[in-house]
Amino acid sequence: MSLRMTPPLPLVFLLMIVGASRTEWSVKYNQQKICALNGSTVFMNGTFTHPEGLTVTETFWFIDPVKGVEPTDLSKDPVYSGRVKFLTDDQKHFSLKLSDVMKKDEHRFYFRIITNEEKERWAGEPGVQLRVTELRVKAPEEVTEGQTADLTCKTTCSLTDPFIWYKNGHPLTTKTIKNNQLHLQTVSSEDAGSYSCAVGGSQHLRSTAHSLRVRYPPKSVSVSISPSGEIVEGSSVTLTCSSDGNPPVKIYTWFKEGGTSPVGSGQNYSIISITADHTGLYYCEAQNDHGALNGTVMVTLKRQNLFAVWIAVGVGSFVLLLITVLICIFRMKKTHETNHNKSKQDENIYTTVTHSTSRPVQAADSGADDAQYATIQKRNDQVTSNDQQGDPQYASVTFRHRTANTESPTQNVEDPSVIYSTVRKD
Ligand SMILES: *[C@@H]1O[C@H](CO)[C@@H](O)[C@H](O)[C@H]1NC(C)=O
Repeated sequence: MSLRMTPPLPLVFLLMIVGASRTEWSVKYNQQKICALNGSTVFMNGTFTHPEGLTVTETFWFIDPVKGVEPTDLSKDPVYSGRVKFLTDDQKHFSLKLSDVMKKDEHRFYFRIITNEEKERWAGEPGVQLRVTELRVKAPEEVTEGQTADLTCKTTCSLTDPFIWYKNGHPLTTKTIKNNQLHLQTVSSEDAGSYSCAVGGSQHLRSTAHSLRVRYPPKSVSVSISPSGEIVEGSSVTLTCSSDGNPPVKIYTWFKEGGTSPVGSGQNYSIISITADHTGLYYCEAQNDHGALNGTVMVTLKRQNLFAVWIAVGVGSFVLLLITVLICIFRMKKTHETNHNKSKQDENIYTTVTHSTSRPVQAADSGADDAQYATIQKRNDQVTSNDQQGDPQYASVTFRHRTANTESPTQNVEDPSVIYSTVRKD
C-alpha cells in the first residue's frame, strides 16, 4: 500500500507560485470526528483533488489500514455491505452514508482514490473517527419535595443535535432544558414519573426510561367512621384514618378535642362501647419522614338525633292537635248558628190565647188550676210538626178568670184571687 503524504506546506506554497495550475493530491473531510447515536444514520462527507492528467477509476471507503496491504472496500465487507452507500459527484464531493450505526462501527474511516496510473493512489488521512453512543438518563432515584433536581441525558460522545425530554412518554416543553440537562427547580409530587431523553432528528431513538420518585409529607388525610350512619349508644365504633405521602404514612396518632395527650395510635381507632362521653371531634395525625397532617371527624350519638326527632314529633303533634281543636270549635259554632236560624224560621208565635168559657166544665174533673184553651191562633201560618216537638213559645197568654157561675156551685173551686196576666216562656 502506497500512501503518499501531502507535501510540506512551504513546498506547496512554492509549487503554487511556480506551477500555478498544477494541482496536488488532497482529501479533506468535513468532520474528522463524528459522534453518532446508536441506531442512527450517519454521513461522512468531504472533498478531494488529484494531480492533473490522472483519471479516477475507483473510490471507496475502508477501515483498519494495515501497512503494505491493499485496503478492502467496505461495501464488500459483509458486516457493512448492506449498511453503507458511497456517493461522489463531479465537483469531487464524496460521502459515506452509514445506516443503523452500532457500537462496533467505532472505527476510523478512510476515503480511497484509485487512478488509471498504478502508482497514483491516495488514501485520505487522517480519516474520520466515528464514535457511537447510547442515551442514558442519569438522575437521582428519589427527590424530596421542594428540592432541585437535575436530570442528565448521558452520552459517551458529544452529540450536536439538541436534546429533547419526555415525561411519561410526552415531550416536556415547559421545563428548563440546558444542553443535555433537564433542570427541575422546585420539585413537587407531580414531578414524579418516568423520564426519557432523545435528540432532535432521532426522536424515535429514545433513552430507556428513568423513574423519578418524589418524597413528600402527607397532603390529604381522610377519616371514616364504621359503621357509617347513626351510632347507637353502647355499640362499638371504629375510626379509620388514611393518607397519601411518600414514603407511605406509617404513623397515625389519635387525639380527641380538648385533650392534650393522644387517645390512640395506628390506622384504626376503636371505641368498644360508646357513651355520650366519647362523642366529640377526633383528630388523626398522619406522619411520615417529611411531615405530618391532621384529619378530623365528628363522633355523635343517635340519641341526640332521636331527641331532635322527638322534639320535631312533639311540635308536629301539638300543631296538629291545635288545628283539630280549632276546626272542631269552628264547626260547632257553625252548627249552633244554623240551628238557631232554623228555630227562628219555625218559630211559632202565638198572638192570642183565648180562654174560652164555651166548653162546659164538668164539676167532677175540675182540677184546681186546670186552664182550658179554646183556641190557639197562630200568627205564623207555616205550621210544621216542629210545633209539637219544639217547645212552643208563647208571646202572651192571658188567663181571664171565669166568672163565677152561680148555677153550678160545684165549679167554684178556683181561687178568685189568682189572676194570670202574662206567662212568658223563653
Ligand atoms: C453529507 O452529504 C449528503 C449528500 O451526499 C448530505 O445529504 C448530508 O446532509 C451531508 N452531511 C453533512 C453533515 O454535511
